Amino acid sequence: MTDAKSLQDPFLSDIKAANDLSALEEIRLKALGKQGKVTQLMKSLGKMSPEERQEKGPVYNALRQILTEALANRRHILEEQALEARLASEYLDVTLPVRHQAEGRIHPLSQAMFEAISILKEMGFSVAEGPHIEDDFYNFTALNIPELHPARQEQDTFYFREDASGQRKVLRTHTSPVQIRTMLQSKPPLRIIAPGRVFRSDYDQTHTPVFHQIEGLYVDKNIHMGHLKGCLIDFCRRYFDNPRLPVRFRPAYFPFTEPSAEVDIACTRRNGQLLIGEGEAWLEILGAGMVHRKVLENGGIDPDVYQGFAFGMGVERIAMLKYGIPDLRSFYDGDQRWLKHHGFGAYSSLMGGV
Ligand code: PHE
Repeated sequence: MTDAKSLQDPFLSDIKAANDLSALEEIRLKALGKQGKVTQLMKSLGKMSPEERQEKGPVYNALRQILTEALANRRHILEEQALEARLASEYLDVTLPVRHQAEGRIHPLSQAMFEAISILKEMGFSVAEGPHIEDDFYNFTALNIPELHPARQEQDTFYFREDASGQRKVLRTHTSPVQIRTMLQSKPPLRIIAPGRVFRSDYDQTHTPVFHQIEGLYVDKNIHMGHLKGCLIDFCRRYFDNPRLPVRFRPAYFPFTEPSAEVDIACTRRNGQLLIGEGEAWLEILGAGMVHRKVLENGGIDPDVYQGFAFGMGVERIAMLKYGIPDLRSFYDGDQRWLKHHGFGAYSSLMGGV
């Protein structure tokens, strides 16, 4: 039987000499593994007489203890060394300048849309949607637009061919059909905005065949012109970031509202630059009015119980005014240089929750 004393020193010097963790593990198995020498000694205790066991027991235990500790110490040292080596070889220079990466820009139209929507959402409106391809009923008839109204004429509206039932679909000319869809789908009180694309057959410096509107509809009991004015004045002042922005309501006509108004904001031209919020001139930014009785009826709402206001604004227009973009057509040119100049960084003032 191997003696404890003769095992201790060779094992200790082997442990000391082990250069990596796997060498160390091999030594551990030789000494303390199932078939290890020290384990064998421990097992032999069972076959000894009580006297002998009393004598050898503490000696073997001490040997096991000493080797266990030596193994743990060496393991710790080797692990530290391995870490040091990794840190040295995987050294990362955090002071190196960042390599330039191409970054996209947010289109001013998206930016204006996000800003307007988040202001209106904060006011309690939620977002509703409708299709781009509309029935004549939602786009015109239900909105009280008569058969011979100029808006229905071929030169303004993109019509589809007649279908089998003699119906002609249209590309919606405004977001107002979402008013009717909302009224027919849900019961008042209604508080919705409908942002989206609209289509008219037009092309010059201030018109493109595709543009965007944000419709608003508020229907409840006892709603009057004061609510309309308060809501839109607040909106304009928030959107243009000017708490004293002069806002003017000018009488107007829309078949689907009565009374109707066009809403203007003050502006002036100085040194060829358009300045919003000061001066004697006015710029129209949206149409609005109290929802016409007939429109409420067409939406299945009793106009003797409920009233409402509605508004529709052109998103391109409020974007051009806020960001000083002179030509509407440039929104759709897809020119990277233009977008670099007028676009917004991904971390700019985009407000969440849209
Ligand atoms: N639909 C109108 C337009 O496109 C705007 C509008 C909406 C006016 C709602 C009044 C109420 O010009």
